[in-house]
Amino acid sequence: MNNIDMSVDLNGLKLKNPVTVASGTFGFGEEYAEFIDLNQIGAISVKGLTLKPKEGNPPPRLYETPMGLLNSIGLQNPGVEVFIKKYIPYLRQFDTKIIANINGANLEEYMEMARILDKEDIDSIELNISCPNVKDGGLAFGTNPEVVRNIVTEIRNCTSKHLIVKLSPNVTDIKEIALIVEECGANAISLINTVAGMAIDIEKQKAVVERKIAGLSGPAVKPIAIRKVFEVASVVNIPILGMGGILNGNDAVEFALAGASAIAIGTGNFINPNASIETVEGIRSYLMRKKYSKYTKIIGLVK
Ligand SMILES: Cc1cc2nc3c(=O)[nH]c(=O)nc-3n(C[C@H](O)[C@H](O)[C@H](O)COP(=O)(O)O)c2cc1C
Repeated sequence: MNNIDMSVDLNGLKLKNPVTVASGTFGFGEEYAEFIDLNQIGAISVKGLTLKPKEGNPPPRLYETPMGLLNSIGLQNPGVEVFIKKYIPYLRQFDTKIIANINGANLEEYMEMARILDKEDIDSIELNISCPNVKDGGLAFGTNPEVVRNIVTEIRNCTSKHLIVKLSPNVTDIKEIALIVEECGANAISLINTVAGMAIDIEKQKAVVERKIAGLSGPAVKPIAIRKVFEVASVVNIPILGMGGILNGNDAVEFALAGASAIAIGTGNFINPNASIETVEGIRSYLMRKKYSKYTKIIGLVK
């Protein structure tokens, strides 16, 4: 049975398969296109975009931990205009969906990004209100339920595009925030962004990155991510794009069973540039072994 239906519809965003790549770990696809066939990925969430180009935080910005990666990139990106002129046409050569990850230092900037991208040829907007590595905006928006209500309502009014809201794991009750996001009209939820963490250089007796707190990703965060997906899936009806430490098909299946309708590979791309393609194959072999004809049959089986 090789004709397994791998497609999934994220409440208006139809993917040929449930495997996407996470924002900030895949650039705009160019570097990876030399190694892998981008046509085989369900969607690409591009590097977090801001209104104006952003240089990001001073180096060092990456630090490896056991089974994880701390990053303090600070949303380095060429700005939304370069994305529109250069990278949308580039990505449109491939048969994959384009998700634009948007960021702002304040509500007005987020709204302006949404208004600009509403007119462009992209498939979805991913509202990042969960970046721990910037001083203004980011996590400050995603952790306060009333601020989340305000920003998602305003962004929904600025665009009719498919809207994904990306949540932070750095909150006490992610279910409360997810319910607000659903109520305010988001089509889907993505989670998790990185887990706020810290590492110290004991010789220099200072934190390894200038902003001291950084974002932890990779296999170290996978059990946290699965728990968050499971909790959110138990309360919302909109689909979840799950991520956090996924390296292969078996990891992806865990997320699907916990309630994720699709998944994203992030840090896994740095370890193995082919991880996304291998994950599609890994999910397919699991479905064959378990005799499922459709991927969607396994979503949320663990209650
Ligand atoms: C180097 C790096 C840069 C990232 N940049 C962004 C970003 O620009 N926007 C965003 O929403 N998430 C960003 N993230 C978070 C990832 O998209 C993802 O949510 C997180 O890393 C968990 O998945 P993973 O463990 O598979 O990497 C970044 C992560 C890393 C490691």
